Amino acid sequence: MKEASRQARAESRIIGFVPTMGALHAGHISLVERAKRDCDPVIASIFVNPKQFGPHEDYKKYPRTVEKDAEQFAAGGVRALFLPEAAEMYPPGFSTYVNVDGVSERLEGRTRSGHFRGVTTVVLKLLEIVQPNFAYFGRKDAQQAKLISIMARDLNLDAEIVLGPIVREPNGLAMSSRNAYLTPDERAAATVLHRALAAAQKDLAAGERSAMQLQSKLRGILDAEPRIKIDYVEIVDADSFEPVVSVSRSSYVLLAVYLGKTRLIDNMLIEPAESGSGTLIFHL
Ligand code: PAJ
Repeated sequence: MKEASRQARAESRIIGFVPTMGALHAGHISLVERAKRDCDPVIASIFVNPKQFGPHEDYKKYPRTVEKDAEQFAAGGVRALFLPEAAEMYPPGFSTYVNVDGVSERLEGRTRSGHFRGVTTVVLKLLEIVQPNFAYFGRKDAQQAKLISIMARDLNLDAEIVLGPIVREPNGLAMSSRNAYLTPDERAAATVLHRALAAAQKDLAAGERSAMQLQSKLRGILDAEPRIKIDYVEIVDADSFEPVVSVSRSSYVLLAVYLGKTRLIDNMLIEPAESGSGTLIFHL
């Protein structure tokens, strides 16, 4: 992989990179589409990274559909697919990790201890191997995207980190490889995340700015679905990921819930309009 990338760079080509854990859906493909606008070649990877799963999480049962994924990537215009083995990525004695302090300890990091250390470590390794000019990540995993951007800045990485919007099913459910775990009933119940975010969007558009009011509305809607158990509902500053009292700057509304045995996350990015008119723009 390194040799192929070196060659492409020697030919002054612009390399775009889309790292994934496979079990592809339209969210992944949207990142390939975005990469094709800026880059040629576009390289993708599939690696179900053991270091980002906790001991009681779903590493073993994570959906693995490599052959189908490879076809989908090829049809989408991906020129090279990197498929490393865990033993190759983490040889015996592997002992170097990347940890982004602060933001990684909150929200997802509080429930999933060690998860982000695994993510940032593997993403740095992948970026070192693929040596892209641009690397593409989805806002579906807003906190992950933020941590990767911080890492790239702090460690002076060559790759520019580009973020893409959340891709949803027609019923609003954010696409996720883990949606494969849901029963048809659970799939219908899972749309409550999007409904809750849409309700918050409506309240914000009507002028509500209190994070506490918005959070209690969101909790109320989620709690009305009996199969949902809330992990967190938070509104945070989009830069610092610190909780906000009032929504005035770019912020994320972040949700994490359990639905049966499946853990789902979703979010909405809120940005003040450039005119400074007090109008907000929603990325839902
Ligand atoms: P994975 O869950 O396979 O996601 C790969 C990329 O697709 C991530 O950047 C993720 O944010 C993005 N993505 C997932 N669902 C999306 C959706 N509905 N809309 C838009 N983008 C979406 O995230 C990972 O893998 C791993 O943690 C990884 C970064 C590959 C490191 O192992």
